[in-house]
Parts: sequence; C-alpha cells; structure tokens
Amino acid sequence: MKRVLGIESSCDETAAAIVDETGQVLASVVASQIDTHGKYGGVVPELASREHLRSITPVVRGAMEEARLNWNELDAIAVTAGPGLVGSLLVGLTYAKALCLVRGLPLIGINHIEGHIYAVLLEARLAGAEIELPALALVASGGHTHLFEVSPRMTYRLLGKTRDDAAGEAYDKVAKLLGFGYPGGPVLDQLALHGDADAVHMPMVKMKGNTLDFSFSGLKTAMLRWTQSKDLEGELIARRALLKLHPHPTVEQWLTVTPQLTLDAIAAFQEVVVEELLRRAARAAEETGARAIIISGGVACNAGLRKSARSGRLPCPVFFPTPQLSTDNAAMIAAAAFPRLERGEFSDLTLKAQANLTLA
Ligand code: KG4
Ligand code: ZN
Repeated sequence: MKRVLGIESSCDETAAAIVDETGQVLASVVASQIDTHGKYGGVVPELASREHLRSITPVVRGAMEEARLNWNELDAIAVTAGPGLVGSLLVGLTYAKALCLVRGLPLIGINHIEGHIYAVLLEARLAGAEIELPALALVASGGHTHLFEVSPRMTYRLLGKTRDDAAGEAYDKVAKLLGFGYPGGPVLDQLALHGDADAVHMPMVKMKGNTLDFSFSGLKTAMLRWTQSKDLEGELIARRALLKLHPHPTVEQWLTVTPQLTLDAIAAFQEVVVEELLRRAARAAEETGARAIIISGGVACNAGLRKSARSGRLPCPVFFPTPQLSTDNAAMIAAAAFPRLERGEFSDLTLKAQANLTLA
C-alpha cells in the first residue's frame, strides 16, 4: 500500500496530511492563521511566514501521529511549490526537502491549483462516484479564479481567469468595507440568506476579449459606491464594536448589527458573484463538450453557489468537495501526487518556490 505525506503552506494555512493509494485520508491537520490576519482585514505575508515556521513541525508531527505511521511506511513527500506567497511557500518546501533528505524519501512538487482539483477527484473516488472526463474545472478561492478544461489524460487547458480580483478576494474586500472582518466569504454567505437580492441593483460584467475571463473589480466598486450613498456610520461602529467583543461573531450576533438594506445589498452582491461564476462555467462546459463540472477552492463552500449549481442549470453533473477539502488543506496535495508517484516522476531537491506558478 503506497502512502504520501502532503505539505501545504502557500497562503495562510499550514497543513499536513497522509493519503494512501486507495484515496483514504489517514490524517489531515490544518492550522489556520485566521486569528493572526483577522485584525488586519487580510493576509499579511510577513506574519504568514512567521506563523508557518511556528506551526510546521507540530502540524507534520500531528499528522504522523494521527495516522499512526512510521516514516518508513511512507513512499513520498508531496509539497506545494506554487502559486502562493513566496515566503509562505518556502517554509513548507524547505521543510519537505529536509524531511526527504533525512528520511530518504522522494520529493514531489505540486501545483496548488491542481491540488484543489484533486480534492474533488479524491472524494468522488471514495464515494464511488465517477467523474467523467473531459471535465470543466472552476477553481475559485482567495487567490485565484480559473476555468480549466481537464482532458481524459489529466492535462489542463486554461479557458478563462480573473483579470483583477479573485472571487474570494472580492468577498474579503467587500466584507472589510462593510466591517465584517476576515475572511469575508463565510460571513457574507450566511448573511446573504437573510437579504432580498432584488431589492438592490448590482451590475453584471460585460467582458470584452475572452468572454470566459472574470472580473470582480466593477462589482467591488459598485458595493463601495452603494456604501457611500448610504449613511452606514452607525452600523459600521456597531459591527466594529461587536468584533472587538467577539473575534468570531455568530450569524445571529451579526444580524443584530446589520439592517435589512445592508443584508439586501449583500444578497445582491452574492447573486452577481454566483451568476458570474456559473454562467461562465456552464458556457465553457458546453463549448468544450465537458461530461462533468468540478467546482473547488474556498469559494466552493458558498451555499448560494452550491444551491444554484445544483438547481439543474448546468449542462452536466457538478461535483463539489466537502467544506474541509474546499479550503486549503494538504490531503489534496498528497492526492495530486499519486499519478506522479506511479510514473516515478520526482522533483529535484533544487525545486524552487514559484509564486506565480501556472497550471496551464
Ligand atoms: O482556497 P482557500 O482556503 O485559500 C486560497 O487558496 O485562497 O480560499 C479562501 C477564500 C477566502 O477568500 C474566503 O473568503 C473564501 O475562500 N471563502 C468563501 C466562503 N468560504 C471561504 N467565499 C464565499 N463563500 C464562502 N462560504
Ligand atoms: Zn487554495
């Protein structure tokens, strides 16, 4: 039985996981830095590297203990080589290289975006569901929003990507603007349920050039204009005060300091993001003759997106990861390494962290 230890540190999660060749996740440990970055309203790269340094040893040790494995029961170490914050990537990569040297294991460098796609393939396999290829993959997170065609040989063709903000980044910036803290996606998603999207108008994008590209900066500006046109001072003060009292307020607590009109604007914002993502995914799937749609990355946790994607509007079956495997984790990195392990395709110990690594 082959087993791979995966290590992920590309952004603000330090993660380690062990996956076996049947796709079983024997251990998965994720140390989130949300509390560190929360007070700044976004990820601070210098702090992220420092936190990764602090967490990497206990996280890897924790995964090995959880799986009850010895080092000689592993076959390779997979690590995210990019894309991501270079200082953060370096912590995981250097640690993985050192482990490979000391334990005599091969190193497999993984593209983080491919990891997000494997999160879905891994779980589908465990559930006995077959994802037919070619597939269309939408990866939407805090750092990327990409559409890929996934061929039957597991090669990738980039069909569209964001020209400005990533979808999750738009959530985080709008949440910051409205005083909801970081990360913004989960809070706005839950609050959107309480708003009426038709009560506030938010614009859809008219894309010139590649119409499968995304853009969220216009929507972000529309939200900024909306806040400027309203007197939100009182509610902003109340939300800041709530965040000081409770670092992680519940939806009920947020609702006490969020008037209906603001909830309506949040619902309208979410509706536009979901529409922008799913319209392009549907069109790309039709144009490429995809047999399945894979949606992954932190934004794949979004309840509005899941509901709309499952309403029968997409031309083929749609697959999402569970929420734990939607956001950054190392099980997806280990899973993505298996095809390479089988082919004996290993990385050199000179492997570099690549902040702008592309998948296609
Ligand atoms: O995949 P991920 O953990 O990290 C990156 O690779 O970027 O994604 C984190 C992003 C954040 O921007 C967060 O606000 C967003 O995913 N996110 C959500 C939801 N949960 C997390 N966005 C919308 N709705 C959600 N429920
Ligand atoms: Zn990610």
